Amino acid sequence: MSDFTRYVLWGSAGHAKVLAEIIALHGGRVVALFDNNQVPSALADVPIFLGEAGFGRWADAAGDLYGVLGLAAIGGQRGRDRLAIHQLFRSRGIDIPRLIHPTAVVSDSAQIGAGCQVLAQANVAADARLGEACILNHRASVDHECTLGDAVHLAPGATLCGCITVANNVFVGANAVVLPRLSIGADAVIGAGAVVTRDVPANTIVVGNPARPTQRN
Ligand SMILES: CC(C)(COP(=O)(O)OP(=O)(O)OC[C@H]1O[C@@H](n2cnc3c(N)ncnc32)[C@H](O)[C@@H]1OP(=O)(O)O)[C@@H](O)C(=O)NCCC(=O)NCCS
Repeated sequence: MSDFTRYVLWGSAGHAKVLAEIIALHGGRVVALFDNNQVPSALADVPIFLGEAGFGRWADAAGDLYGVLGLAAIGGQRGRDRLAIHQLFRSRGIDIPRLIHPTAVVSDSAQIGAGCQVLAQANVAADARLGEACILNHRASVDHECTLGDAVHLAPGATLCGCITVANNVFVGANAVVLPRLSIGADAVIGAGAVVTRDVPANTIVVGNPARPTQRN
């Protein structure tokens, strides 16, 4: 039995490196990576396995997975993939933890769902609620009483002012700002640097200041 907590990550790109550093700060270690594409391991000395078949082979060979923790290292508009990976991990008895960087500020009254990743200097204020598999990148801020669904991703520096409701699978680009008490619909995308002054309907991409839907909608 190892004396460190073993983690596995799905996704072998830059985000895996970021998560591995936080895991190390918590005294854990990444022991395997999985990816749907034939890519090199993002982490030195950590083996990588291809797709669900590779994951199955690794899990069979690893034997007892008690205490192993798993996270999806996939960001952007692929929140649904994070949720699916959580289910796959759970099907083999791998638990889904919350990963919070030691420099993040998280209110005691905030609720953080399984598989959420709160990176360096991010902020989660009083009575905020995050569903499962949310990512708050570096310096992202979720202010008081915001409610986020599952698989929401806030890119670096994105700011949700207070009392905002964000539905499932929303992506908020870098340094975007959403003004207080607004609602963002499911699968919406907010462009980098946008200033959102009105509710955003589901499945809508908005950009600019003030944010407006793009031609692609
Ligand atoms: C909003 C976004 C998703 C749109 O992507 P897209 O659909 O591929 O859009 P395109 O790159 O084809 O651009 C379409 C038009 O919108 C404009 N546009 C794109 N993103 C914009 C933004 N953030 N703000 C203002 N205008 C933007 C483009 O200039 C282009 O305008 P044009 O047709 O007049 O040339 C993307 O540009 C974006 O902002 N992504 C966030 C990236 C980010 O924060 N990454 C962090 C990862 S952790």
